[in-house]
Amino acid sequence: MAKKTILSGMRPTGKLHIGHYAGALENWIALQNDYQNYHLIADYHVLTTSLNTANIYQDSIDMVIDWISAGIIPEKSPMFRQSQVKEHCELQLIFAMLITVSRLERNPTLKDQVRDLDLDSVIYGHLGYPVLQAADILLYKGNCVPVGEDQVPHIEITRELARKFNLQYGNVFPEPEPLLTKTARLVGLDGKSKMSKSLDNTILLSDDAEIVKKKLKKAVTDPEKIYKNSPGRPEVCLVYSYHKKFNESTEEIAEIETDCISGKLGCVDCKMRCAAKISNTLDPILKKRRELENNIPYILEVLNDGETKARSIARDTMAQVHEVMKIG
Ligand code: TRP
Repeated sequence: MAKKTILSGMRPTGKLHIGHYAGALENWIALQNDYQNYHLIADYHVLTTSLNTANIYQDSIDMVIDWISAGIIPEKSPMFRQSQVKEHCELQLIFAMLITVSRLERNPTLKDQVRDLDLDSVIYGHLGYPVLQAADILLYKGNCVPVGEDQVPHIEITRELARKFNLQYGNVFPEPEPLLTKTARLVGLDGKSKMSKSLDNTILLSDDAEIVKKKLKKAVTDPEKIYKNSPGRPEVCLVYSYHKKFNESTEEIAEIETDCISGKLGCVDCKMRCAAKISNTLDPILKKRRELENNIPYILEVLNDGETKARSIARDTMAQVHEVMKIG
């Protein structure tokens, strides 16, 4: 049986952190044998939060380096920039006619961003963010989209647009399903919010063991564990949550929990053990990254191949769209 298609995407915001890894990338890598994966670099979507385009090219290259370093296999899973496949623009324009403004205003991720970014007005492109995302997914006839909980409303809008188009013009698009990522978003080193570049609370995939140690040393732990031997509360401690993610020994995790609660284990000790576990995951990624950083022509070739494949699929889909619509 033919493999199902996965379309996954990220906005290029520079080097990736372990939150991206745990929340998305690790899942993409695990799925690449059972599905036909396409990986989109959403370099138009990124304009909704910053009009400064100076870094988009470099950020996109850095993201591809991180993807490959972490284990995405370019020969299997094409990677491409949204801006290099113009059909995204055309399909999003057609989809824009099939959805109401009030439906888009009800999109919860828009409300969250208006609040988080403290916006006093919303640009048209921001309102239309999920319409472009629907075009991203449906151009490749994605059956599944690996996402975190927060992106589910966008997949719902994608499904509605697929249904609406198919009813109006003829059956071209599948109705994609979200593939929910198991790991919830990692908390940042400040312990307050999710890991995010703009909050400067990240551990990067490209951080070496020394940097990981240094960053973890400063991480916020249970504020009630004042002295080394005070009893702690692992469930409120971000270091414990990292242990749960990066320490492959369930016995050691259980021991850390017991020894934190009893006060036997101090935070510095616990943090250094955690740093070692994180670096176990990151070291091979870093090694590969160093190789790739010195071979930018290879990265450009990967993008060129990915973009050639993506364009050819996008062109086929648009030919079907034109046929059923009798325009274009
Ligand atoms: N909205 C996604 C995010 O912020 C990025 C994205 C753009 C995407 N197009 C996509 C994700 C298509 C999946 C499929 O993370």
